[in-house]
Amino acid sequence: MPLISFKKNIRTPVDVPTETVLMTALLEAGLPVASSCDGDGVCAKCKIVVVEGQEHLSAENETECFLRDANNLPKEVRISCQTRVLGDITVDATYW
Ligand code: FES
Repeated sequence: MPLISFKKNIRTPVDVPTETVLMTALLEAGLPVASSCDGDGVCAKCKIVVVEGQEHLSAENETECFLRDANNLPKEVRISCQTRVLGDITVDATYW
């Protein structure tokens, strides 16, 4: 199963089933994820920095591409409610 690690070591890494939505995995691990649309792909507040393992995430869908362009998000940032975990990654958020 994919392992999610945290750059600031705020908690121990968590195993998640392959294809788990990143936002769901983080919330279930007890970490806060900013959101004002509850994962509907509107607010872009759920953005997460992927420090390692970008290649182990699902490709950007149309919604994420739109939000990336609209918010000028850098490549290492993913919209967590639109992203599925396929392998090991290390993540970070400014408010953790
Ligand atoms: S929670 Fe709003 S876009 Fe992800």
